[in-house]
Amino acid sequence: MTTANAATNTPLCLVQISDCHLGAKPGSTLLGMDTDHSLDAVLAQLRRQHPDIDVLVVSGDLSCDGDAASYQRLLPKLNKIARRIVWLPGNHDDLATMHSCVDSALLPNHIQLGDWQLLFLNSAVSGKVGGHLNDAQLALASEQLADRPSLIFVHHHLRPLGAEWLDEQCIDNAEALFDILDQQADVAAIVSGHVHQESDQRYRGQRLLTTPSTCIQFAPGSRNFALDTLNPGYRWFSLGANGNWQTGVERVSGVEFTVDRTANGYA
Ligand SMILES: [Fe+2]
Repeated sequence: MTTANAATNTPLCLVQISDCHLGAKPGSTLLGMDTDHSLDAVLAQLRRQHPDIDVLVVSGDLSCDGDAASYQRLLPKLNKIARRIVWLPGNHDDLATMHSCVDSALLPNHIQLGDWQLLFLNSAVSGKVGGHLNDAQLALASEQLADRPSLIFVHHHLRPLGAEWLDEQCIDNAEALFDILDQQADVAAIVSGHVHQESDQRYRGQRLLTTPSTCIQFAPGSRNFALDTLNPGYRWFSLGANGNWQTGVERVSGVEFTVDRTANGYA
């Protein structure tokens, strides 16, 4: 495990990638985009720009359909990219299959990272697109968070983003989590995927971040399903001692991606 950063005063590097939608076979596509090609491009840029990553979080929808082959194919793509890798399930994933494919160390609900703690909540509900936090996940939030700088990762977004079709898929009991976090002064941000777009908002004293997908991008503020023209990307965090931190989003540059812009939805 990564050692505390207090000793060296060097910020820790955490990177989040999300919504890879990998298929069972190479070359599988999502709305015309080859999700292997787009993920490979994101990871190539990530390895160039962040060669020393402490933790890489893959925040859900790793697979397009929960097939074991997609998880088995993802593993070598991430080889040696970070000192620690964490997988979090999304609505397209199958958690039992994930557990069958990787060491349980990749599926923690809570880890310490230097001065920081990271909490991973499962918002996926079998057979549903939208998110929910069951009692066990809410208990994790109330019992695991200690009095130290924290980041919470959860696949689904907590608050509407102004895109009606996606806003219906928010975590439907997010207020229960905010009630718990009212008692926690040191939560830096709650970080999600699922929405395939970057956002940064505040609600009830918490900072809420979302992150681009490694494949197709959804258009912000659209009432109905719509794709954006932006390239895939990732989010980085620089986590310093005493709770100082920074974050930003990087997108792939110099690569053109094929996508079906006439698509009016996806399963
Ligand atoms: Fe999702």
